[in-house]
Amino acid sequence: MSPSAAPTPRTLRESVQGLRPYLDGVLWRWVCGLLAALLSGLAALAIPQVIQVLVNNVFSADGSGGRSSVVWAGVVLLVLGLAEALFVWLRRVFILPPASDVENRARIGLYRRLQRLPVAFHDAWPSGQLLSRAQADLGLVRRWIAFGSVMFVVDSLVIVVGVALLFTLSWQLALLYLVAAVPIIIRSFSFRNDFRTVSRLSQDQAGDLATTVEESVHGIRILKAFGRGATALEGFRTQASTLQDTEVRKAGLLASFVAMVVALPEVVLGVGLAWGVYLVATGQMMVGALAAFFATTAVLARPVESVGQLLGMTLSAKTAIDRHLDVISVRPAITSPAGTDPEEAASLGATRLDGDADEMAPPSGALPVLPPSAGGLAFRDVEFRYPDAAEGTAPLLRGVDLELIPGETMALVGTTGSGKSTLLQLVPRLYEATSGRVEVDGADVRDFPLEELRRRVAVAFEEPTLFSDTVRNNVLLGAPADVLADEEKAQQLLDMALDTAQAGFARALPDGLDTEIGEEGLSLSGGQRQRLALARAIAAQPKVLVLDDPLSALDVRTEEAVTQRLREVLADTTTLVVAHRPSTVALADRVAVMADGRIVDVGTHLELLARSAAYRDIISNAEAEEARA
Ligand SMILES: Nc1ncnc2c1ncn2[C@@H]1O[C@H](COP(=O)(O)OP(=O)(O)OP(=O)(O)O)[C@@H](O)[C@H]1O
Ligand SMILES: [Mg+2]
Repeated sequence: MSPSAAPTPRTLRESVQGLRPYLDGVLWRWVCGLLAALLSGLAALAIPQVIQVLVNNVFSADGSGGRSSVVWAGVVLLVLGLAEALFVWLRRVFILPPASDVENRARIGLYRRLQRLPVAFHDAWPSGQLLSRAQADLGLVRRWIAFGSVMFVVDSLVIVVGVALLFTLSWQLALLYLVAAVPIIIRSFSFRNDFRTVSRLSQDQAGDLATTVEESVHGIRILKAFGRGATALEGFRTQASTLQDTEVRKAGLLASFVAMVVALPEVVLGVGLAWGVYLVATGQMMVGALAAFFATTAVLARPVESVGQLLGMTLSAKTAIDRHLDVISVRPAITSPAGTDPEEAASLGATRLDGDADEMAPPSGALPVLPPSAGGLAFRDVEFRYPDAAEGTAPLLRGVDLELIPGETMALVGTTGSGKSTLLQLVPRLYEATSGRVEVDGADVRDFPLEELRRRVAVAFEEPTLFSDTVRNNVLLGAPADVLADEEKAQQLLDMALDTAQAGFARALPDGLDTEIGEEGLSLSGGQRQRLALARAIAAQPKVLVLDDPLSALDVRTEEAVTQRLREVLADTTTLVVAHRPSTVALADRVAVMADGRIVDVGTHLELLARSAAYRDIISNAEAEEARA
């Protein structure tokens, strides 16, 4: 799935309604701000009316009352000017804080949704796209709420009222003014569509660019090691210029529109001035009305000029909202059973959108009673294909049947690409079996609230991810809350986990266990990172431990030591561990052999050596590798 390929079409109204979950307590302040802005616009329009009276009085035949009316008009003009300034200030006071509230809530809502969406979603969406949606897009939405939306409404209204006033002053001149407006209005409609398309394109391209930056920063070592820096730069340059072209196109569109919006009224004004003087000379118009007419067009100049830009901003904001909604309205495919997850209810309450309603359905019937935590793990006729696999390809896992006895350590061996990692990821429901059942403690994993399932099952992957935090916090990431609450117990658990994973090296780091390890633990060696990731899985004190080749970067002797310790310390923890080395495999209670997405044999190491050619093959390959190493 390409995230930007098929955005859901929405009207502006639907898009704005999509923001509803974030608008709590915002709407009334926005309305107050809008009213303030309207009043400031109307105060500006009232000024020419006063000028009209003033000028007419000064030029009246007898000249009487000129003096006092000048004073009065001066006072009224001053009051109107001050009122206009006051209302502008009020608009800001009312609207700026709620606009950043919306931005903040939307950002948190997005983050929450990203946490809930399954791994398959993250497989499909480039991280830069998500980053730009969380940052640039929401900043644009904030500016639009605080400024663009209000000023678009106010300026449109000021134009309508202003033109109506022009008609009261002189219908002939007003008609002339309007003639200039018609082509502008017509052009705005076609401009709307052109601009919307380009605006979406530029925002998507900005997201792609962010992905590239993210990836190359992430993979900087590889790029350097392979001397691909120049090529990467070239690719980046191309992408950046594509974005630049789009931006220039966008600016060009806007510029030609704005030029038309500005130029046409100017021409008309020139003509209008000559005509107005003629009308006054022939007595068809008062000189005060003429002054007021041009004063009004001066007031209208800014709104007429900026209404196009505000329309552009509105469309960009709509695109930004749509890009946000495209992510936020993805329904997490992997959820706790209905009604068992308070977080789910909260999250849906905050981001309820079209089609989410059925997720809110109250649980039908009684919730499944969870079995006691004993450490059972079984796969029953499991079939799986990746959601993004090409259509028509055979499932990756087929008819997988495997049962582990509680407390048992089972090794999973198989050629590379046979589906071992995939199978393991089904246990904590990082992916969902396409058919069949994965059972923990005799119950389908789908019957567990996700939190409970992930309390019972802990995992360590071959690619260990560590966070930029202390060793202690990294290892205790998944530790039970009651242990963490007690400092002494937490320390004991930490020591036990580190010892079992042979990760004692961490105590010798500059600040011991409080050493901050770099982004993704980059400053540690691969084997060190693996051992910390393993310690983390152990410290979670699960009943079922799922280890995906967690020792691949260790030397044979350390790997053996870890495996031996694992068996002793975790005697009552059921362990399913992907392993390669015969020495490690031999330590397992039983071994399952995987080939081509199926479990083809299960037995002890010796049994399998005796009866399975496939097993001998895998093992002798590994032995040869070990000998070479
Ligand atoms: N996210 C994904 N989307 C689609 N296909 C995937 C995905 N991840 C893995 N695959 C494919 O699934 C197949 C099995 O991969 P898997 O990682 O389970 O193998 P493995 O047995 O763990 O191999 P290894 O021993 O090398 O770790 C591979 O052909 C791989 O290309
Ligand atoms: Mg693997």
